[in-house]
Amino acid sequence: APQVLRTVAEVKAWETALRKEGRRLALVPTMGFLHEGHLSLMREGRRRADVVATSIFVNPTQFGPKEDLARYPRDWEGDLARCASAGVDAVFAPEPGVMYPQGYQTYVEVTEVSQGLCGERRPGHFRGVATIVTQLLCLFRPEVALFGEKDYQQLQVIRALNRDLHLGADIVGMPTVREPDGLAMSSRNAYLSPDERKRALAISRGLGKAQALFRAGTEEARALLEAIRQELRAADLREDYVELVDAERLTPLATVRSGQPARLLVAAFCGATRLIDNQPLGG
Ligand code: PAJ
Repeated sequence: APQVLRTVAEVKAWETALRKEGRRLALVPTMGFLHEGHLSLMREGRRRADVVATSIFVNPTQFGPKEDLARYPRDWEGDLARCASAGVDAVFAPEPGVMYPQGYQTYVEVTEVSQGLCGERRPGHFRGVATIVTQLLCLFRPEVALFGEKDYQQLQVIRALNRDLHLGADIVGMPTVREPDGLAMSSRNAYLSPDERKRALAISRGLGKAQALFRAGTEEARALLEAIRQELRAADLREDYVELVDAERLTPLATVRSGQPARLLVAAFCGATRLIDNQPLGG
């Protein structure tokens, strides 16, 4: 079973010991309620380093006042067993007061790629993500840190802070793991009723239809986005945003151009549950 670390001192002692042995560390930050998407990052960490640590911490600073912090799903025993099965060596599971003690006052703001999309719809969200990920990278000093493309804007925010603050990790982005029918795996899928679970499929189906249109020669954002919106409307999902953006800078594109990697990003409400998904286009 993985070693459980609860405090900063425990992490430092653990990390110092493995450094002395010259071992390479991979870190996989999570908020728990682990699924195959998370496990794919841990297994890739195993391949790329000698030792794998994961963090399980529902980070309060990345939730808005009306969001689901209090009811975010948790399964400590199940998560530990899943970490063990994925070959994780240590699990860092701090109380909020360990990461944000009395007197805590340092926050990390990534400007450009945090704007628009989820950054616009969830004010303060990426400030919270950037702050906790910076803390974790400074604490563990991993050679490699792995994140999912499922949270595509988050991945770009983390690449920026790692580069700009000279944190020196190799940031690895991993493809989105999906349910057999195409729904992107997410801890928040647990909120969906059976009816919502069926309707939620409209998101990945819409992305698939846009991809098919693109392959058939459609390069206009307007037509690609409309194909996705049609699917959302038909399933009675409420659009939060549907956008075509430059894959690195996340700025909106009117047309897909060859040589400029583009990405389609979707956020939509299925009942009260907000779901996100995205897909590359062209390149
Ligand atoms: P969480 O939603 O638990 O996700 C942890 C990591 O798993 C993230 O890098 C996320 O992109 C990845 N992930 C989630 N679903 C995935 C899927 N279906 N396929 C592949 N990877 C997937 O993202 C967070 O937590 C937090 O914001 C965090 C980075 C831990 C900071 O608090």
